[in-house]
Amino acid sequence: MPVLDGRLETRLRSRMAEVEALLEREIESEASFVTEACRHLLHAGGKRIRPLLVLMAAEAGDADAPGVLTAACVVELTHLASLYHDDVMDEAALRRGADSANARWDNHVAILAGDWLFSKSSELTAQLGPEAVRIQAETFTRLVEGQILETQTPRSDEDLLDHYLRVVAGKTGSLIATSARYGAMFAGTSPEVVTALSTYGERVGVAFQLSDDILDVGSDTAESGKTPGTDLREGVPTLPVLFALRSTDPGDDRLRALLCGPLDDDAQLGEALRLLRAHPAMTEARAYVLRLAEEATAALDVLDEGPVKEALVAFADLIATRTA
Ligand code: FPP
Ligand code: MG
Repeated sequence: MPVLDGRLETRLRSRMAEVEALLEREIESEASFVTEACRHLLHAGGKRIRPLLVLMAAEAGDADAPGVLTAACVVELTHLASLYHDDVMDEAALRRGADSANARWDNHVAILAGDWLFSKSSELTAQLGPEAVRIQAETFTRLVEGQILETQTPRSDEDLLDHYLRVVAGKTGSLIATSARYGAMFAGTSPEVVTALSTYGERVGVAFQLSDDILDVGSDTAESGKTPGTDLREGVPTLPVLFALRSTDPGDDRLRALLCGPLDDDAQLGEALRLLRAHPAMTEARAYVLRLAEEATAALDVLDEGPVKEALVAFADLIATRTA
């Protein structure tokens, strides 16, 4: 947890324990198999950055106000739902160091567990009132649009990086922005602070997804709990890939050829991973993410100096430099 002030850290830890208990209760279904399928990934771990961000943003106002805990639970359930579906789309075998639900059961179970979790998060959102329902609906639209856009080939006149950043802002920035926004909103902060935290969350969210892209190339399963090269195998042109493809160095011909072709063969995927790991595109991608984290931090100018702002700055930093 990226918190510098001891009292704030103790408070957030205890509030996170309340969020965990609420999550545990909310995934309890009358059908025990549904509970089992949903518990599977909930218990497998996860960084819980979305609910943590709700709680941290709420510290800018009345953090004990009603709605804060519920909102924290809503964003984690929405995220969890999307992971069940994402692993089906990616045909991923691993998630959070455990078998994905599609691997452990099958696609039908994974899709329905995702649907059920999303329904639960909608029920909880309804308790938060019409403004939250509207925000949740808009967030979900962006999230799904981002995920769909990822499967689309960019228009010929569209810059590949711009297209990709739109994907990332939709599929990840949206829900992380909403997490920070909900925290500030339910804690009763001023509209100016709510907007600032939304902007911060959006930028942190994009940085988070881009650092995930870097980890997909640069880390192994022991660190990430996922299979390295999943994005490459799927042909998703992530940030390091887009930077590498811009190279005109003839020494990169082999890497470019591999990245432009299908990578469903293990040997070729391994070779592409090896070449990409050693390529300056990785350093360039890391620097890009660090700049984004700085831009996120800049949005916090409206907050008073103190432990809450420091914690949010440290959080952005941690997101940009994470290794898991
Ligand atoms: C992870 O991306 C995927 C997302 C952040 C969004 C997925 C959204 C959907 C599947 C839309 C449907 C959602 C619901 C709630 C019903 P990634 O594959 O790049 O990251 P990974 O490495 O964690 O798999
Ligand atoms: Mg995935």
